[in-house]
Amino acid sequence: MYKIAVAGTGYVGLVAGVCFAERGHQVTCVDIDEKKVEVMKSGVSPIYEDGLEELMQKNYEAGRVDYTTDYQAAYKDADAVFIGVGTPEKADGSANLSYIATVARQIAESVEKDCLVVVKSTVPVGTNDKVEQFIQDFLTHDVRVEVASNPEFLAQGSAVHDTLHAERIIIGTESKWAEERLMSIYEPFGLPIVSVNRRSAEMIKYASNDFLALKISYMNDIANLCELVGADIQDVAKGMSFDQRIGNKFLNAGIGFGGSCFPKDTKALEYLARQNGYELKTVKAAIDVNKEQKLKLYNKASKRLITFDGLKVAVLGLTFKPGTDDLREAASLENVPLLLEQGADIYAFDPVGAGNFAKVYPEGRNGNGTITYVSNVEQALKDANVCFVFTEWGEVKALTPTSYKELMKTPLVFDGRNIYSVEEMKKAGVEYHSIGRETVMRKDARESKQLELQSSRS
Ligand code: UDX
Repeated sequence: MYKIAVAGTGYVGLVAGVCFAERGHQVTCVDIDEKKVEVMKSGVSPIYEDGLEELMQKNYEAGRVDYTTDYQAAYKDADAVFIGVGTPEKADGSANLSYIATVARQIAESVEKDCLVVVKSTVPVGTNDKVEQFIQDFLTHDVRVEVASNPEFLAQGSAVHDTLHAERIIIGTESKWAEERLMSIYEPFGLPIVSVNRRSAEMIKYASNDFLALKISYMNDIANLCELVGADIQDVAKGMSFDQRIGNKFLNAGIGFGGSCFPKDTKALEYLARQNGYELKTVKAAIDVNKEQKLKLYNKASKRLITFDGLKVAVLGLTFKPGTDDLREAASLENVPLLLEQGADIYAFDPVGAGNFAKVYPEGRNGNGTITYVSNVEQALKDANVCFVFTEWGEVKALTPTSYKELMKTPLVFDGRNIYSVEEMKKAGVEYHSIGRETVMRKDARESKQLELQSSRS
């Protein structure tokens, strides 16, 4: 059992801290926000994450995890301090390391015994060398402090599961002492550990995330071509997925990737390459494809309709993916302002993200248009002239083609997640535009409906 402190209680820090406690370590989570600390002490999670609150309550009651703003007390006698603070994107695409620097200095000024500092936050390759030097410069006690890299691969919505059952733990260290301490902290997890040097560990994080971002953008690029040549991206993806070298994950075409990692990490790696005089053409292509993809549906709809002015527009899903209330880099944030500018009356449904969205676009008038937040999909669709699907929430997936036909004034659907069957939409008489698949126009839908009726009569 180790005494562990965790700096930062966002997705990375809080989940890591609670999972270390769950595996038997003594953990103190540190955050500068007093209110947030109080909330966490009361057993409430500041983020929406499946299973997290239960683990917080269980481990708090067992005395294995605590929360504080008093970093000095937490770091002073910790065997390891994990850093999980944010590294947001700067305007030029580089990572903002000011939070890491602040924590590094606080650690240097607090530690009174040998301590391993473990950076979980995603940082540009080479940063942890500087963090170690920075800590050495500010140390106030004669103790051993080294820095290890331990990038985090959890996905939002399955963060606890991803941490407790990770496919691999990457540790990047520069000494036997650091490697052994970190391995032994992870021993109770019983997971495969890949031990490499610090710079390789930092690179593994970017290379993994950017590869997945590339994979999605590649499928989006192929989807766009499928539309032009009459192929179906879902059939194409299925055919590809049986090749084990390709695999069956992250092959879903849609309206682009969002979230806190892929957009930021693609830009950061591209920036790092540029800083080193190298052009990272593949990653740059992924960024470009993604930018265009987010407006794919809006552009399709704009070509189809003369105007959105005065139309009731149902928006299903606001978050960047289901299972989270996070809106960072979500396609909705690109599309909704354009719809409002065009004078649309938006009825938006999102089971957990609506509150956050309302902070940016409050209920009521927003410029030329209006936005109303509704608590179920039916309310959003009732008498709507057009519908956009941005997130594949269960409630949205559960809708049948017939319900679109029955609820909407004009059944015209733009699906950014390829949730429904083209054939079923056609049969139900719904005009249906999706990504990389056949478009069902009003005429096709009507004809198909008439054929249906005729065959059922005969
Ligand atoms: C991702 C990585 O999966 C995780 O390992 C890393 O640590 C952080 O970044 P996350 O951003 O939480 O996790 O979500 P993820 O499920 O990976 O999805 C990212 C985006 O890609 C979402 O907008 C999602 O809709 C999109 N996506 C994903 C696709 O468009 N198609 C796919 O096939 C998969």
